[in-house]
Amino acid sequence: MKILIFGKGFVGNRCASAWPDAVLSDVRVSNKEEALAEIKRVQPDAVLNAAGVKGKPNVDWCDTHQMETILGNTLEPIVLAQACQEVGVYLLHIGSGCIFYGDSPHPDKTWREDDFGNPRPTYSRAKWAADLVLSTLPNVAIARIRMPIDHVRNSGNLLQKLAAYPKVIDVENSITVVDDMVSVFRQLMEKKAPGIFHVTNPGTARHREILGLYKDLVDPNHSCEWISEEDLVVQGLATKKRSNNFLASTRLAEVGIAMRPVKEALRDTVEKYARAK
Ligand SMILES: NC(=O)c1ccc[n+]([C@@H]2O[C@H](COP(=O)([O-])OP(=O)(O)OC[C@H]3O[C@@H](n4cnc5c(N)ncnc54)[C@H](OP(=O)(O)O)[C@@H]3O)[C@@H](O)[C@H]2O)c1
Repeated sequence: MKILIFGKGFVGNRCASAWPDAVLSDVRVSNKEEALAEIKRVQPDAVLNAAGVKGKPNVDWCDTHQMETILGNTLEPIVLAQACQEVGVYLLHIGSGCIFYGDSPHPDKTWREDDFGNPRPTYSRAKWAADLVLSTLPNVAIARIRMPIDHVRNSGNLLQKLAAYPKVIDVENSITVVDDMVSVFRQLMEKKAPGIFHVTNPGTARHREILGLYKDLVDPNHSCEWISEEDLVVQGLATKKRSNNFLASTRLAEVGIAMRPVKEALRDTVEKYARAK
C-alpha cells in the first residue's frame, strides 16, 4: 500500500520511518491545488495528514497566534480533504483528544468518539472545528491521539517532556503509545475505515506512574517537584489549564483493531527507551 504523508514533524517522521514504502511530502498545503498536484504526482492508496500547528514553545502560543493555528489545524485539513475527495483517495487525519475537558456526561466519565467537544483554547477549538466538518465526509477518518509516549527520543514525546520538567502535575489521562498508534494508523488505512477513532491505549495513566517507571528503568537519580494543577498557571508555567480526560476507544474494536492495555504498552515503551539510551 502506498501512503502519502503530509506534515514532516514528530508524528509524520515517526510514521515514515516505520513504513519504508511511505512518501513523506515536502509540500506545505495551503490550498486544494497544491494538495491535488502532490496526490496526483505520488498516486497514493491513502493519505495521512500529520500536518498541524501545535505552537512553540507550547500550545499557549496558539492563543496569541489564532490565524496561524486556524490555518494549520482547520483550513489545511479541509483543503486536503477536498483534494482527496476529488480523486477518491482515503484520508486519515490526525485529531486530538484535547478537544475534551474534564469528565464526560456519561456515568463512566469517559468521552466517546461521537461526543461533542467542549474546548476553550484556540488550538483545541481549531482541532475540534476540523473534526466537526471532516467527520461528515465519506472515505475520511479522524484518529484522535493523546499525549504520545514513545521509546524514540523527540521533544514531542511525553516521556521525554515529563522527565525534563523540574515541576510536574500529577494528573490521570488516556494516553497513546506510539508503537501501537503507528500500527493502528496503518491498519485503518488498509481497511479504509471511515469515521472518528480514539487511538488511545485501554486504561489510563498518571504522570506519577510514568515518571515512576522512568526512575525505575531509565534514570534512578531522576527527581522533580510535584505541584498542583492550579500551581501550573499560578506559577506561570502555563497560561491556561490543560485538557485532562479519559477517552473510550469503542470504534477501533468495531473494525477489528486492538491496542495493548496501557500498563503493558507503557512498561514496554519505557524499557525500550532505556535500552536506546
Ligand atoms: N504530539 C502531540 O502531542 C499530539 C497530540 C494530539 C494530536 N496531535 C496532532 O498530531 C498531528 C501531528 O503532530 P506532531 O506532534 O507531529 O506536530 P509537529 O511535530 O509540530 O509536526 C507538524 C508538522 O506539520 C507541519 N505543517 C504545519 N502546517 C502545514 C501545512 N499547511 N502543510 C504541511 N505541513 C504543515 C509543521 O511544519 P512547521 O513546524 O514548519 O510549521 C510540522 O512539521 C497534529 O495535527 C497535532 O495536532 C499531536
